[in-house]
Amino acid sequence: MTKLMKRKELEQHLQELDGFSKPKILLEQYETRAHIAACMLHTIESVFGDLRQKTVLDLGCGCSVLGIGSVLLGASYVLGVDIDEEALQISASNLDQFELTDIDLIQCDVKSLPRVLEGKSKFDTVIMNPPFGTKHNKGLDSLFVDIGLECLSEKGVLYSLHKSSTRDYFYKKAPSWKVEARVLAQLRYDLPATYKFHSKASVDIEVDFWRFEKK
Ligand SMILES: C[S@@+](CC[C@H](N)C(=O)[O-])C[C@H]1O[C@@H](n2cnc3c(N)ncnc32)[C@H](O)[C@@H]1O
Repeated sequence: MTKLMKRKELEQHLQELDGFSKPKILLEQYETRAHIAACMLHTIESVFGDLRQKTVLDLGCGCSVLGIGSVLLGASYVLGVDIDEEALQISASNLDQFELTDIDLIQCDVKSLPRVLEGKSKFDTVIMNPPFGTKHNKGLDSLFVDIGLECLSEKGVLYSLHKSSTRDYFYKKAPSWKVEARVLAQLRYDLPATYKFHSKASVDIEVDFWRFEKK
């Protein structure tokens, strides 16, 4: 078996990827920074072994930092899904840059995904950094988890980032999803000031890195 790529090396590769050129506020388009993505993905593989030889769904993939990182750590196949065509074009060019062929991309609203996949494709691992779902799109964060769980295989695992302020909500929700839910880490996440209502260059927020495992 090939050796797992070091976290620092993964981060360096992910730094080379293009991000959103014109981020759309309503879609909450901010990419997961290379440092955070590398920490997440390296933990997912080195601690839990949930990437190597696994099929992965990158939900709300944006420019595919999480999907590409998953392949670099040994995922056998990745499907990236996003509602936004422009984000998928950037993803496609990032895939070209790395000459990756084990990733497919589809344009789809998360709400329609189960219908589009017709329940046929089930994934070993779902990974996402969904919209926070706390403003105009209330509940979208939870809906992403709902749909992600629906797309998991029987023993699948879902990893996600959510605002720490929603931690209690997700712990309460977990039994109804029939998952074991665990916060693996709390991260300080600097949201770039791509959004006009932010007066500072970036805004630090507390974000939880979650693992949801099907029972
Ligand atoms: C916070 S960004 C994360 C992007 C990427 N996963 C990353 O980690 O860099 C959220 C992504 O969700 C996408 N998105 C927002 N609403 C969506 C929806 N209803 N269905 C599918 N994707 C959506 C956005 O276009 C955006 O790319």
